[in-house]
Amino acid sequence: MSIGVDSMPTESRRIGVLTSGGDAPGMNAAIRSVVRVACGRGWTVLGFRRGLTGLIEGDFVELAPRAVANILQHGGTMLKTARSEAFRTETGRERARATLEASGVSGLVAIGGDGTFRGVHELARIWGGSIVGVPATIDNDVFGSDETIGFDTALNTALDAIDRIRDTASSHERIFIVEVMGRHSGFIALAVGTAGGAEEIFVPEAVTDLNQCCRRLVEANRRGKAMSILVVAEGEHEGDAFAIAEKVKVRTGFETRVTVLGHIQRGGPPTARDRILATKLGAYAVDMIAEGKSDVMVGEVRGDLIATPLEESGLRKKPLDPFLLKLIPILAR
Ligand code: F6P
Repeated sequence: MSIGVDSMPTESRRIGVLTSGGDAPGMNAAIRSVVRVACGRGWTVLGFRRGLTGLIEGDFVELAPRAVANILQHGGTMLKTARSEAFRTETGRERARATLEASGVSGLVAIGGDGTFRGVHELARIWGGSIVGVPATIDNDVFGSDETIGFDTALNTALDAIDRIRDTASSHERIFIVEVMGRHSGFIALAVGTAGGAEEIFVPEAVTDLNQCCRRLVEANRRGKAMSILVVAEGEHEGDAFAIAEKVKVRTGFETRVTVLGHIQRGGPPTARDRILATKLGAYAVDMIAEGKSDVMVGEVRGDLIATPLEESGLRKKPLDPFLLKLIPILAR
């Protein structure tokens, strides 16, 4: 990684930055890093508001280094975000291209998840500037980076909730079904299930046999274990947390309760780990633009900063850790 602040600026340049898709804690830290590293090179940075919608509507503001002061510690995104339906159309993308040309930017940093990357990959086909993606989503379901910005914070928020639920679950000797976010992915469920000592997890990537799970709950009860926590990722095959709770109640006869953690997982101050990852990836994205790279996403894999083609990061699936998947029911004794 060659941070531009060490070298004298050689050219004046304008680049854009935006945040798109579901917000993730650490997006602000990434914006700050992009702005300050690019300005260190003598470049001008424009912040597009509400993600790809801002590109289409030409809604942007110039971000000087002081414009991003005191945002590092805040969740959410100062640039706002959205899921743009219009950008899925050719007309929407043509309008975005026209905005980029009219505003004179030659590079764009898109901070978001796989949906954002599929969108800007299409834009890269019709616009000649450099487009670099920075992975930020609590779901962690982006190929090309071991972790995405926001995942660690969401995981710790969910863990805090599960620790609290365990107190009441154990006092009342109940089975709690806790639903965590992750529309098509079980990264939060697997990680929080492991860290929070869940008895079972239900994720879209693997099939959990509910009958077997109910048998294990009954056996555990006979051995004197009267409370359990089952973690369910949204989008699980067996249905949502309420559907699973009902089935467990009918098949075991035990009292069940449901907690849906929902959007609580998306907010709050980013953890140190997310702030550091966001800072590194934001800076590296600017480096990629300086090197003339385009249609790529930056990521960190086994400690190394790497660039992956946007097409690949938007399409390929990152697998869950099979070792942890097997361990969860074994640990529940
Ligand atoms: O992509 C992040 C995420 O939080 C998913 O886990 C969740 O399914 C989805 O966004 C919810 O999206 P929205 O806030 O638009 O309802």
